[in-house]
Amino acid sequence: MAIEIREMTIRDFDQVSALWKSMEGVGLDPEIDSRAGVKRFLFRNRSLSFVALEGKEIVAAALCGTDGRRGYLHHLAVKPSRRRRNIGRGLVDRCLSALKKDGINKCHIFVFAKNHQAIGFWKKIGWSVRKDLFIMSRPIREIVVSALLLT
Ligand SMILES: CC(C)(COP(=O)(O)OP(=O)(O)OC[C@H]1O[C@@H](n2cnc3c(N)ncnc32)[C@H](O)[C@@H]1OP(=O)(O)O)[C@@H](O)C(=O)NCCC(=O)NCCS
Repeated sequence: MAIEIREMTIRDFDQVSALWKSMEGVGLDPEIDSRAGVKRFLFRNRSLSFVALEGKEIVAAALCGTDGRRGYLHHLAVKPSRRRRNIGRGLVDRCLSALKKDGINKCHIFVFAKNHQAIGFWKKIGWSVRKDLFIMSRPIREIVVSALLLT
């Protein structure tokens, strides 16, 4: 059956969430990857995320967004039985085209360092590892507002 790629909507959430949850290599957060979190993300990043369908079945998905400076691709996942059919590449291409249309000219991804199969895929489709950067993170939920003030 032919593969169709179309924009992701929140109505896809149940299938997409089940796909992500079944997948090693996709790191999920209970809050931002909840229905409400994904809805918020799609609302703030309209027309940038895509799903691939075979009939009515979602066989692959990618979330994509921008902060207005750079693009960010998250949670690219292709069902194991549908891999190596250029579906991953096709989804990435759609996301990058949508970013380009939005005036964004570079995109970043976050990949677990131990996810060698994904790193092989990204390199194969033209992405490079940044050796001059590493990610630093800090949870901000617990920070009290006064601690953020400079005075
Ligand atoms: C990584 C993933 C998305 C690739 O999807 P896919 O649909 O199988 O990839 P494609 O068929 O589009 O492959 C595109 C190219 O990459 C190559 N490729 C795919 N997987 C590869 C791998 N593990 N190692 C090396 N090259 C790979 C393909 O051979 C193809 O190259 P070619 O055109 O020269 O033959 C898929 O394996 C996946 O869902 N993995 C689990 C989830 C995950 O880790 N996601 C990434 C989070 S950062």
